[in-house]
Amino acid sequence: MKKRGKFNSKLGIILASAGSAVGLGNVWRFPTEVGANGGAAFILIYVGCVILLGLPLMVAEFIIGRHTHCNTVDAYRKLAPRSPWVFQGYLGVFTSWFILCYYSVVSGWTLKYLVAAVTDQVTTLSDSTAYFSAFTSSPWMPALYMVIVMLMCHWVIIRGVQNGIERYSKLMMPMLLLIIAVLVVCSFSMPGSEEGLLFLLKPDFSKIDSGVILSAMGQAFFSLSIAMGCLCTYASYFTDDAKLMKTAGSVALIDTTVAIMSGFIIFPAVFSVPDVAPNAGPGLVFITLPNVFQMTFEHVPLVGWFFAVMFYLLLLLAALTSMMSIHEPTTAFLLEHFDLSRRTATRIVTLSCIAVGLLCSLSFGPLKDVRFLFGMTFFDFFDFVSAKIFLPVGGIIISLFVGWKLDRQLVRNEITNHGTLNAHLFPVFIFLIRWIAPIAICLIFLNELGAF
Ligand code: PHE
Repeated sequence: MKKRGKFNSKLGIILASAGSAVGLGNVWRFPTEVGANGGAAFILIYVGCVILLGLPLMVAEFIIGRHTHCNTVDAYRKLAPRSPWVFQGYLGVFTSWFILCYYSVVSGWTLKYLVAAVTDQVTTLSDSTAYFSAFTSSPWMPALYMVIVMLMCHWVIIRGVQNGIERYSKLMMPMLLLIIAVLVVCSFSMPGSEEGLLFLLKPDFSKIDSGVILSAMGQAFFSLSIAMGCLCTYASYFTDDAKLMKTAGSVALIDTTVAIMSGFIIFPAVFSVPDVAPNAGPGLVFITLPNVFQMTFEHVPLVGWFFAVMFYLLLLLAALTSMMSIHEPTTAFLLEHFDLSRRTATRIVTLSCIAVGLLCSLSFGPLKDVRFLFGMTFFDFFDFVSAKIFLPVGGIIISLFVGWKLDRQLVRNEITNHGTLNAHLFPVFIFLIRWIAPIAICLIFLNELGAF
C-alpha cells in the first residue's frame, strides 16, 4: 500500500475545501442567476437550500471520506461491501471528470480575459459582444487557453495533497478573498452604484416558481461542490481531529459570502454605467463587464485597467482552485484502485479531459452544429447532464446512504470525533439527511423532468 496524502493543518483543510467550493459558480453563475430570477428573493431561497440541503450533504460526504480515508469508489465499497451503493462512488468519480471537461473551457476563457485585461485590450474594446463571439468561436484560441489552465491544474495535482493542493490553496485563497474585498470597495465607490444595490437587494417574489427553486438548489449543489466526489475525496485527507460540522459551516459561509459579494461587485458597477444594459446570460462577465471597465477606463484609465485586471485574476484563481478539486477524485481513484503512480494517474486525467474538453471548446465554433438531445451542443450537453441530472441523483443517493444505510453510531462518532465534541446538532443533521434532503431533491428533480 502506498502512503496516502494528508492535509497538514485545519486551515489547510478549510482553505482547500473552500477553494473547491468558491469557483466560477460563485463569480460567474450566481450573479447571473440572481439577475434573472428575482434578485433578493432568489438569494433567500438559495440560502435556504444551502442550509437545509447543502450543509447536511456536505457533512455526509465528509463523513464518508474521513471515515474511510479512501478514494470515493473504495470508500463506498468499504462502507457497504458487495452492495450496489458503490455505484455512487463511480458516479461521483465520473461526474467530476465530466465536469472538468467543460469547466476547463470556461476557466480558459478567464485566462484569456486576464491576458487581454493586462494588455489593455479589455478596456479598449469597441464591441465586446463581437470580441467574445470571435474568440469563443475561433478553433484554436479557446482550445489553447483551455489546455494552458489544464496544465496549471496538472502542475499542482501532480505534487500531491500537501505540497500541491494544500500549499496552493493556502496561497491562492487569501489572495482571492483580498481581491474580493478590494473590488467591492471599488464597485461601491462608483457613482450611481446604489441602483445596482437596489436591483440586488429588492426581492421580486413574482419570479419565484418551482423552476427557480430547482435552479437555486442546483446552484447551491454546484457551488458547494456537492455530490461529485470532490468533498468526499478531500475529506479522505482530513486529519482525525478535524471538526466536520464546523468545517462544513465555514466552507458554506465562505462560499455564500463570496457569491453574494460577487453580486455586490458586479451589479453596482454595471448600473453605474448608464449605457450598459445588464446582460442576464453568461455574457454578464464576458460581455457586460468589459463595457463597464471600458467606460471606467475612459474616465480614469488606471482605475479601469486595475478593476479589469483584478476581476479576471479573481475569476482565474477561483476557477483554478475548483479545478484542482475536480481533478483529484479521478486521480485518487486511478492511483489507488489501479495502483498507479500519482504522475501516471494525473497524466491520464489531464489528457483525457483535454481531449474531451476540446470537443466542448469547439462546440462554440466549428462544431456548433453538432447537436445532441434536445438540440444541445457538446458544451450544453455536458453542463445539463452534470448539473441537472448527475448532481440531484448523487444528492439523493448520498443522503439515503448516510441517513438510512450507514450505522448511526459510526455517523455520530464522525460528527462528534468519537464523543469529544458536543452532539447538539446530531438529531437535526439526522432529520435533514434522512427526510428533508432526499424528499426535497426528489420532488424538485421530478418536477424538473416534467413528471408533475
Ligand atoms: N463549486 C465550484 C464552483 O462554484 C465548481 C465545482 C463543481 C467544484 C464541482 C468542484 C466540483 O464553481
